[in-house]
Amino acid sequence: MGLHLLLLQVQLLQAILLIFALTLVSTQANFPVANPNCTDRCGNVSIPFPFGTIEGCYLNSSFLVTCNETYNPPKAFLLRTTIEITSISMEGQLRVLQFIAKDCYSRNGTRVLYHDPWIELPIYLTANNTANKFTVIGCDTYAFVHGRRMNRNYQTGCTAMCDNKDDLASGSCSGLGCCQTTIPKEVWRVNMTVKSYDNHTNVMEFNNCSYAFLAEESEFTFSPSVLSSLRNVEKLPMVVDWAIGNGTCEEAQKNMSSYACKSPNSKCYKPDNGYGYRCLCWEGYQGNPYLPNGCQDIDECKDPSLSNCEKRCENTVGSYQCVCPKGYHGDGKKDGKGCIRGQSLVFKLVTAIALGITVIVLAACWFHFILQKKKLIKMKHKFFLQNGGPLLKEKLTRRDTSPDMARIFTSAELKKATNNFHDSRIIGQGGFGTVYKGFLSDNRIVAIKKSKQVDKNQVEQFINEVFVLSQINHRNVVRLLGCCLDTQVPLLVYEFINNGTLFEHINNKTKARALSWDKRLTVAAEVAGVLAYLHSAASPPIIHRDVKSANILLDASFTAKVSDFGASRLVPLDQSQLSTVVQGTFGYLDPEYMQTNQLTEKSDVYSFGVVLVELLTGKNVLSSDRPQEERNLASYFLSTLKQNQLFQVLDDNIVCEGNNEELISVSMLAKRCLYVRGEDRPSMKEVAMELEGLRLSQKHSKMQTELDAPEMESLLGEKFNVFSNGEGNSTSIGL
Ligand SMILES: *[C@@H]1O[C@H](CO)[C@@H](O)[C@H](O)[C@H]1NC(C)=O
Ligand SMILES: *[C@@H]1O[C@H](CO)[C@@H](O)[C@H](O)[C@H]1NC(C)=O
Ligand SMILES: *[C@@H]1O[C@H](CO)[C@@H](O)[C@H](O)[C@H]1NC(C)=O
Ligand SMILES: *[C@@H]1O[C@H](CO)[C@@H](O)[C@H](O)[C@H]1NC(C)=O
Ligand SMILES: *[C@@H]1O[C@H](CO)[C@@H](O)[C@H](O)[C@H]1NC(C)=O
Ligand SMILES: *[C@@H]1O[C@H](CO)[C@@H](O)[C@H](O)[C@H]1NC(C)=O
Ligand SMILES: *[C@@H]1O[C@H](CO)[C@@H](O)[C@H](O)[C@H]1NC(C)=O
Ligand SMILES: *[C@@H]1O[C@H](CO)[C@@H](O)[C@H](O)[C@H]1NC(C)=O
Ligand SMILES: *[C@@H]1O[C@H](CO)[C@@H](O)[C@H](O)[C@H]1NC(C)=O
Ligand SMILES: *[C@@H]1O[C@H](CO)[C@@H](O)[C@H](O)[C@H]1NC(C)=O
Ligand SMILES: *[C@@H]1O[C@H](CO)[C@@H](O)[C@H](O)[C@H]1NC(C)=O
Repeated sequence: MGLHLLLLQVQLLQAILLIFALTLVSTQANFPVANPNCTDRCGNVSIPFPFGTIEGCYLNSSFLVTCNETYNPPKAFLLRTTIEITSISMEGQLRVLQFIAKDCYSRNGTRVLYHDPWIELPIYLTANNTANKFTVIGCDTYAFVHGRRMNRNYQTGCTAMCDNKDDLASGSCSGLGCCQTTIPKEVWRVNMTVKSYDNHTNVMEFNNCSYAFLAEESEFTFSPSVLSSLRNVEKLPMVVDWAIGNGTCEEAQKNMSSYACKSPNSKCYKPDNGYGYRCLCWEGYQGNPYLPNGCQDIDECKDPSLSNCEKRCENTVGSYQCVCPKGYHGDGKKDGKGCIRGQSLVFKLVTAIALGITVIVLAACWFHFILQKKKLIKMKHKFFLQNGGPLLKEKLTRRDTSPDMARIFTSAELKKATNNFHDSRIIGQGGFGTVYKGFLSDNRIVAIKKSKQVDKNQVEQFINEVFVLSQINHRNVVRLLGCCLDTQVPLLVYEFINNGTLFEHINNKTKARALSWDKRLTVAAEVAGVLAYLHSAASPPIIHRDVKSANILLDASFTAKVSDFGASRLVPLDQSQLSTVVQGTFGYLDPEYMQTNQLTEKSDVYSFGVVLVELLTGKNVLSSDRPQEERNLASYFLSTLKQNQLFQVLDDNIVCEGNNEELISVSMLAKRCLYVRGEDRPSMKEVAMELEGLRLSQKHSKMQTELDAPEMESLLGEKFNVFSNGEGNSTSIGL
């Protein structure tokens, strides 16, 4: 039972081995090497065409291989000789086994073995002169190889000697125990003779034989042990080159029916040893070039040593190509770029589209930005035009340029100066607009007035006003530094006056106390002077139209600065009065103007009279504390004068200074200014001169208390400057 099982197992194993062997053979020999119906093997030896074992299988009788099947495995022999073949290659070589020449001696010096073999190759065969070496082994030995090459003799030899076994070196055939030499080309008959000098008598202890052979060099390596072991070896393989015929390729191709390279994918070449020609499959093809369909395309992809692909290999006729999977690109070769991920056409397309969209979006953004900017510039320009920019510009350029000249500011400049018109910068708000405090980049502090919407029809007038005001460079007028026209509402830029308005100084109790009569008189004289200048010296004359204490600013040294020319009117030179809508501040308004709507310079005189009364009384222009008919300060003041009660209404801060005469004079002047009929009122020039006279006499009396009255009169009679304009000209007015 156990034996049965064992047998079964062995049979199974054999079957598996057989299948394995079959698959191995089938993969290796997947192309025909021999003609159909011809056996292509003899034992282990593959027999490709032109060789063959039977008639009709070989090219001609020269390529007969005798296969003796009595041996196991069967042995192949060249022609009908005893030369055994161990392999035949289609590249033009075959291996045959060749005898070793021997010469052996016994201890008593007699030869016990001698063999000098020879081999004669058929005409189409020659001993390979590079793969084979004539090798001589022994320590008392010389040997010859001789025979025929083409149609003449050759002879060459070698000597191998040694005294001591220790001198022998493995792998070296340089003469010590082993000697090698090459043979010439085109050798077809080989005779070998080996001889001893002294019948090995001196080296008998370690070497009693001499050997010589012509064999494949790679099949034999020298070692000291071969000195004795070679004795039992009979034959060694020798490489023999074979070729077709004895003519050249050109000669052979003349007769295509006898031409041996039958495969269309083959070429003919001449071997560098021997006669005839050989056939070779083209590159990328393999098989037997001597068969009509012998050369077949090599599937390089199946052999990693032939192909060089990283991922996928595709075989082509005569070659192969490396292919990268989807989503990869590159040459796909292992030693090349290989396959690189993610750069497929789709990826590139998507990238390109994404890039395109990005570019378009960016371009659109940029275009939009440019458009916005253009729009803004256009709008600014529109405002500039609407606000009369060109007109002003023209006027400004026509004038001589001077550093004090008003200039046109840009909206950006003023935005920066006022922290974008922040509420914290507001210093005043009136009927005409809002006033902001601003810091220019040159460290100047300015007041920026944001006007209310300018009527389109009044543009020219507005510009004219700005232009005229910019020309007034009077020390008692708040200087207009310039304007900004590229905003929806025009902006006016003034010098900044830091000490508040006269109104504040009169109505604040502590400030009023500090505002002495001298100061008040000076302020009155200065304001009168500047109004007189505006009425008469300015060209064309200007009517302020809104003279009031709130429009008179004071600087640190209490110099008066008249401001807010927003309501001012330029009086055309050929007209002495203008018909306008009544405008001004209630309490200061000229009653005649209110009735007739006829604006004259005398309206400003009336308003100035009210300011004088304010200075004298320190009272509010309009007060509900007073009786109905005295609610208006002007009427109240006039009624007290009528009742001779002047000193009861005067401000306590200014009386008791021994200046009663002056107070009375100024009160009388105020009374004249407040006449209902404009014609009855003095001109501003007269008012100014009177006040200036008072001021000067006051100054004079203080400086020179002992000065006599006549001298003082003469002093008053002297010329003095009342006005000075921007160009430094002065108008002299004699008393
Ligand atoms: C091969 O042998 C088979 C059968 O023995 C025969 O039919 C066929 O014709 C032969 N082919 C050639 C090319 O000789
Ligand atoms: C030939 O075949 C035998 C047995 O099958 C094996 O031992 C030997 O190594 C083979 N020789 C060659 C050269 O393949
Ligand atoms: C085969 O070899 C044997 C033994 O060497 C020999 O007797 C026989 O004649 C050979 N057969 C052929 C056909 O050569
Ligand atoms: C030659 O020497 C070997 C050992 O070196 C020996 O076995 C052999 O018998 C010797 N032959 C003769 C003929 O003496
Ligand atoms: C030399 O030795 C061999 C055997 O080793 C022997 O047959 C032969 O007769 C001997 N010859 C002489 C002359 O002694
Ligand atoms: C060497 O051997 C040969 C052949 O046996 C013989 O003729 C010769 O005399 C021997 N020489 C010596 C020196 O022994
Ligand atoms: C080679 O050996 C053969 C056979 O013994 C002989 O006929 C031939 O003359 C020898 N050739 C030479 C060059 O010795
Ligand atoms: C065999 O063929 C070759 C080349 O075709 C030719 O040179 C040679 O003479 C032929 N031999 C015989 C025996 O026909
Ligand atoms: C080739 O061989 C033929 C006969 O075998 C002979 O007539 C011819 O001269 C040879 N040609 C050469 C180039 O050896
Ligand atoms: C070509 O070769 C064939 C076969 O070898 C032969 O029968 C024929 O005569 C040759 N033709 C010429 C022109 O040599
Ligand atoms: C001699 O043999 C070597 C190795 O097999 C081979 O490369 C070379 O081509 C052969 N020489 C000729 C002339 O065929």
